[in-house]
Amino acid sequence: MLTPAQNLHHLQTLLMSFHPIIVIETVEEERVQALLGQATEELQLLAFEWSIAQGMSRLQSAQSHWRNEYAPPGSNRQTIEKTADPLEVLRHIANLSTRGLYWLKDFAGHLDDATIARQLREVAHLFSYNQSALILTGEQVSLPQEIAHEAIYFDLPLPGPIGLKQAIDSTVRSFRGRVQINLCERDYQQLIKAVQGMTLKQTKKVIAYATLSDRQLDASDISSVLERKTQIIRENGLLDYIPAERNTAQLGGFDNLRQWLNRARMGFSNQAKSFGLVPPKGILIVGIQGCGKSLAAKNIARQWKMPLLKLDTGRLYDKYIGASEKNFRHALNLAEKMAPAVLWIDEIEKSMGQGNSDADGGLSSRLFGSFLTWLQEKSEEVFVVATANDLSKLPPELLRKGRFDEIFFVDLPDDQARETILTIQMARYQQDPSRFDLPRLVLASDGFSGAEIEQVIITALYHAMHERCPVDTALLEHTIKSTVPLSVSRREDLQHLRSIAKTRFVSVK
Ligand SMILES: Nc1ncnc2c1ncn2[C@@H]1O[C@H](COP(=O)(O)OP(=O)(O)O)[C@@H](O)[C@H]1O
Ligand SMILES: [Mg+2]
Repeated sequence: MLTPAQNLHHLQTLLMSFHPIIVIETVEEERVQALLGQATEELQLLAFEWSIAQGMSRLQSAQSHWRNEYAPPGSNRQTIEKTADPLEVLRHIANLSTRGLYWLKDFAGHLDDATIARQLREVAHLFSYNQSALILTGEQVSLPQEIAHEAIYFDLPLPGPIGLKQAIDSTVRSFRGRVQINLCERDYQQLIKAVQGMTLKQTKKVIAYATLSDRQLDASDISSVLERKTQIIRENGLLDYIPAERNTAQLGGFDNLRQWLNRARMGFSNQAKSFGLVPPKGILIVGIQGCGKSLAAKNIARQWKMPLLKLDTGRLYDKYIGASEKNFRHALNLAEKMAPAVLWIDEIEKSMGQGNSDADGGLSSRLFGSFLTWLQEKSEEVFVVATANDLSKLPPELLRKGRFDEIFFVDLPDDQARETILTIQMARYQQDPSRFDLPRLVLASDGFSGAEIEQVIITALYHAMHERCPVDTALLEHTIKSTVPLSVSRREDLQHLRSIAKTRFVSVK
């Protein structure tokens, strides 16, 4: 991801290199305003802004807005006459001889009109010779084909800590002493961390709400800010967010993985940085269903006390195609903004696997391509945990050395792991493990996955409630005996997977 300075440079380079239409998909107009202001000032370009409500005027500098926070935006602007109409403004621009940058807000909707679309193309044509540019913004900017290939999309990354800090400060200042601020430096830093991943507008709203609800801003507001962030992230579409404080995943077995993680964790330390070591990138966990891969992913975030971000790639396909890649990049961007974090991609073969491509117009392979690039280039502290059930559907590139730091294989739990899983699951369903003959149950459940052990306990509980009898060793053993585990019903699949995995991957235990 680009730093703000790199981002500014990127925009300036686009402006100088004859890109007539630059699209920025965002609702954060204040940030666009600041960015365009900076970009044009340094290049000594004239800049104009337009909206259907205000018409066209010179771009207001972001400074003048900050100087007087209470003035509504645009209150001191001078609009150019008769430019509110979308067609008129384009004609006006076409007739100007000055080089410049013209920011048209929410313009894409007007392009359904053939005359306006045609006029826009003519302006773009002029601009491709004179280093002028149209900037189109809106939450979603979809352009007609003939215009789309003149346009380039520019990503506005989410605000970083400095921008967020300013947003918090200006919000609090706007209450002018009517509220109390009780934050020590540590709380303040945590609060800034808590809003990471939000836009400036969202930050201002959430801070204003947290402050005004009880007329103070203090440490207790951090958790309500996190709560709000959980919702915002879910509404955004592709990510689910589980704050470290709420992660309770308990995992049995996986000792080898745990040790690996303990070592890898050092990679995030300042000492590692001082040696010039790059933090670990991520791991892939493959293995049969129900053996705790998903649970392990959650558990890693818990062990490292990092927030967990689950990328729900299934949802990528719900939205209409075309938006998907953008959503995907947005999700990765969001994850980086919340770093350090664990990004969990469950059953990666389902969204980026082979064999989907015909059905989805190549989307899965394009996504896979952008994912690999991102994985290669990401510098920030986002640790990726991908899981996969079906090796045959995974693109072989993913298994190549160097993509992930390590690929782990999860087999069925051994005796010791089954004992821990039995204990964990009994406790989860309010059954005291000391009341059971564990060695006996460990023996009986040979060949069972963790999920199957959990299911046995649930089935036994239902039986006991119905028959009004207690859950005891005999009942559990009986339930185990009447269950056919996957390791029996799908013995061949499992053996096949095992034979590939054992030689190529590292065991989790
Ligand atoms: N090693 C384990 N320790 C504790 N519980 C387990 C373990 N493996 C599986 N389980 C139980 O089975 C459920 C399903 O496991 P999951 O992690 O979703 O399997 P996978 O992702 O490999 O298909 C878990 O929610 C948990 O209750
Ligand atoms: Mg799973």
